[in-house]
Amino acid sequence: MMFVAVMGYGTVGSGVAAVLKRNGEAISRRCGCDSISLKKILDIRSFPGDEFENLITSDFQEILNDPEIKIVAETMGGLHPAYDFVLALLKAGKSVVTSNKELVAVKGRELLETAEKNGVNFLFEASTGGGIPVLRPIYQCLCANEITEVAGILNGTTNYILTKMIKEGSSFEAALSQAQALGYAEKDPTADVDGIDALRKICILSDLCFGKNVPPESVEAIGIRGVTRADVSAAKTLGGVIKLIASAKRLDGGKLAVTVSPAFVKNGSMLSVTDDVLNCALVRGDAVGEVCFEGPGAGKLPTASAVVADIADCARHIGVNRSPSWEEGDGSNVVTGDSFTAPWLVRAKGDKEEIGKQFPGAGFIDVPGIPAGEVCFTTAEMPRSRVKSGLASSGAEACSVIRITDY
Ligand code: HSE
Repeated sequence: MMFVAVMGYGTVGSGVAAVLKRNGEAISRRCGCDSISLKKILDIRSFPGDEFENLITSDFQEILNDPEIKIVAETMGGLHPAYDFVLALLKAGKSVVTSNKELVAVKGRELLETAEKNGVNFLFEASTGGGIPVLRPIYQCLCANEITEVAGILNGTTNYILTKMIKEGSSFEAALSQAQALGYAEKDPTADVDGIDALRKICILSDLCFGKNVPPESVEAIGIRGVTRADVSAAKTLGGVIKLIASAKRLDGGKLAVTVSPAFVKNGSMLSVTDDVLNCALVRGDAVGEVCFEGPGAGKLPTASAVVADIADCARHIGVNRSPSWEEGDGSNVVTGDSFTAPWLVRAKGDKEEIGKQFPGAGFIDVPGIPAGEVCFTTAEMPRSRVKSGLASSGAEACSVIRITDY
């Protein structure tokens, strides 16, 4: 008998309880255990009438000090007290699985080291890409590769909002309310809308792919608040769509270009057809070429699917550390913000001829519906700082500067 506990009985935690109940027998069989059984659920709220009401406790010590509980799923979210609880559990010799991207992005290295020292596991498949298997495929199935780039649509809420805005002409506010009603958005949707959630996920992917910690504060994240109909129209004219793209790319000399921003994605690519709440992560490796992982990046049962799979992996490997690891890093190798280099899709108020002088080879585009007095053009590959200085020198005012991706 393998006993597990869940900490946090919200959307994901209740999904974990439901999946364990629904598929527990088959999961136990696949793990070679008699049974995997949910013993405790930690939450400060009470849930009268809930089918798991009798398992709920508000006392963390009941889980920490229960020798029968060998695996704990942390689905509380946030840094504290999640970090303090997880650290204590690992030190007490319990394996922990989590869906908490903030915890992994900020404290992942330390928690992995603690798990290794204590002969237990710390797994976090659900933290990035929700129900999509992406982390384990990267550190297991793609371990033969030197990974050169990882990029994706990593936030379901913003992808849902952009899809509604692009395809149905919804307002930003109406689309956000729908995303919240469907349980996709974080409690505080600013983390979704301002790119913070995607930032945490790309940091986790970068840590795994490139083996060195990227602190979230070392990377610029631009969300979707500034995306306008004119940007959508400009992208359409150029043969693509605007998506919130998070990416990390290995550059020469150990540097990493890491960023989160609205970006142009060309029609026909996997990322261009990843709509609604779906996520997609694209990985480029020197042996495999390019692979994409697409699926539900948020939601109760899809996320629970990944959490429970991690529980099963822990159950199969009691006493064997199977977690990935990465080196310490302070972000000093990260290229981001104005130093980030790409071709750019620019809308600006200014004189076409003057702009043309500053951007030799600029490709001017006639965008239907573009506000009067604005011009739209693409640049050659250059740092964003060069776009800004070129616009300033031509006396133009930037309306939007959107990177053009090659995926
Ligand atoms: N709020 C997140 C999203 C949930 O919309 O993708 C999954 O991390």
